[in-house]
Amino acid sequence: MTTTPISPAKIHISDKIAAAVYEGLMSRPKWLPSWLFYDAAGSRLFDEITRIPEYYVTRTERAILAKHATEIVARAAGEQVLRIVELGAGSADKTRLLLTAAADRQDTVFYEPVDVSASALVEAQLRIEDELPGVIVCPRVQDYTQDLELDPTLPKERRLLMYIGSSIGNFEPGESLMLLERVRAAMDMGDCFLLGVDLAKDEAVLQAAYDDAGGVTAAFNRNILTRLNRELDADFNLATFGHRAVWNSTESRMEMHLVSAKSQEVWLPGIDLRVGFEMGESIHTENSYKYKQGAAEALLAKTGFAPEVTWTDERGWFAVVLARAV
Ligand code: AVJ
Repeated sequence: MTTTPISPAKIHISDKIAAAVYEGLMSRPKWLPSWLFYDAAGSRLFDEITRIPEYYVTRTERAILAKHATEIVARAAGEQVLRIVELGAGSADKTRLLLTAAADRQDTVFYEPVDVSASALVEAQLRIEDELPGVIVCPRVQDYTQDLELDPTLPKERRLLMYIGSSIGNFEPGESLMLLERVRAAMDMGDCFLLGVDLAKDEAVLQAAYDDAGGVTAAFNRNILTRLNRELDADFNLATFGHRAVWNSTESRMEMHLVSAKSQEVWLPGIDLRVGFEMGESIHTENSYKYKQGAAEALLAKTGFAPEVTWTDERGWFAVVLARAV
């Protein structure tokens, strides 16, 4: 195995992608950050994943929200007017369930989606204002993993901040703690937080969800290499990297890896890096943490929230927690 490190001084570290890829591929074991999945093609593939039979995550959470949207909104609002803030540019039909429930209670609903992608926000704004006339979208281009600043609330207004879709599952335990602390700091006392977390469950169910028979998840995983080929001019041969999904019970997380089927060298001119792979060596591309019963509530209690209600599905596969900023 040969790896030729180039002095970091030669790299334009200002480029977030270049820096992340350089760091990840220079590490042992090798890794790449999971946010790299979401270029245009990757976002389309994830959208496809949410509809495959084995991927229970999206439809299970949607069913919980559909069943309890009215109650969630009523509890969050109390006697106040609700403003809905969402981390991420709107998970389409899941967000619509809560916006519709809020629009049933009040004349206008301010909806503030927070996302790094301006184009995703524009798309969400057009779609939502078109479909839900009572909703006024106030998009905010911000990387909520770095900082979070919300519009001040109007008198008699209260926020419901949504972080759904099990997106928190991609963060390491320490990172999610910091994220929730930051979220809490941006909120006012009495505001509500709605958190969606995927729960630990039978390994076979998880395995199928992250390695579906149709190969959509495998394509989603490999797309990260297509992206590096395009954006860093790399020469990854996609056929020589296999998709692997494994349950790590010690850490309570699903892991995704790309495993080199042979000993080979890859050249990434964009970051001036030549990297060697042994046969069977993997690039760790994602962690998806699965919460144990009560773990999400414990995390919320540690970060300035009082958990009020947890809703789950009949099989106990997914949890939606409503917590109050205290
Ligand atoms: C978008 C982070 C919720 O972890 O289930 C889907 C991403 N990865 N299939 C998840 C994903 C593989 C997804 N999240």
